[in-house]
Amino acid sequence: MKILKTSLNKKDFLTLKDLCKEEILSILELSKDLKRELKNGRSPHLLKGKTLAMIFQKPSTRTRLSFETGIVQLGGTAIYLSSNDLQLTRGESIEDTARTLSLYVDLIMARVYSHSDIEKLAAYSSVPVINGLSDTFHPCQILADLLTIQEQKNTFNGLKVAWIGDGNNVCNDLVLGCSKIGINLSIACPPGFEPNADVLDVAKQEAFKSSTEISITDDPLKAVQNADVLATDTFISIGKDEERQRRKEIFLPKYQVNSDLLRSAKQDCIFMHCLPASRGREVTSEVIDGEASVVWDQAENRLHVQKALMCMLPLR
Ligand code: CP
Ligand code: NVA
Repeated sequence: MKILKTSLNKKDFLTLKDLCKEEILSILELSKDLKRELKNGRSPHLLKGKTLAMIFQKPSTRTRLSFETGIVQLGGTAIYLSSNDLQLTRGESIEDTARTLSLYVDLIMARVYSHSDIEKLAAYSSVPVINGLSDTFHPCQILADLLTIQEQKNTFNGLKVAWIGDGNNVCNDLVLGCSKIGINLSIACPPGFEPNADVLDVAKQEAFKSSTEISITDDPLKAVQNADVLATDTFISIGKDEERQRRKEIFLPKYQVNSDLLRSAKQDCIFMHCLPASRGREVTSEVIDGEASVVWDQAENRLHVQKALMCMLPLR
């Protein structure tokens, strides 16, 4: 089977703001081709001889493993760099780090605290930069989640996603992804924990173009009415540990996804979580291990969408 690949218009992938609907859909198409090939025991070497540098300021299980496995399956090589491995910790600037890495590697993926760090990395590197999560965005996760929704529901048309909990990095890109693709989205979060205001501005314009609705409430029961997908994430993201107690008091018990809440959605509603999950906190074991849960499909799909993404970025 011949895999056709087209290039994306932008050098970097830092948030779903960077892609239009057609580009998102074409990544999903290539992801499905690559997934099918892999299931049939084939792994086309579309990135033969290419090297990916992976910078991690924060821990990771899925992102590190799926990127590293993905580039190897495509015939390339990955170099894992924790912050401690780089001169960044001794004061070398991000700008000079970006210039240096660009001399050796074809592609950079970075997981950072401040989103401005990855913007700087992208601005000063001559090779494509992929955001493997920042405090503000997690776009690779949402590509995987869109693929999972498409596989589960066979369409995006007329769907409603309900997000329960923190309007965090994952939620920000979910808002962008749903509004661009044309999926209705209802967010239930405590006041003060809404997605970023500039993300909501972009999303409102996109939702207008795709005739879909983005709404925000503080009432989980209202958000899940008629939902096809119920999604959540930790409400104590990496870097928020000092707020642990305060957040528990704000989010629990109201924003926990449990069987009662799931029953208030559509009968065939699926449950999504990017993982890692805190069982008994944002979601009960009954839900995450239950029939509606597609969390392992989401985790697997990280591999396929990131392979497609790496193939479609304009590598030199
Ligand atoms: N979902 C996700 O990004 O997982 P990791 O933090 O394990 O990479
Ligand atoms: N919101 C979480 C996602 C982890 C994949 C965090 O930033 O820690």
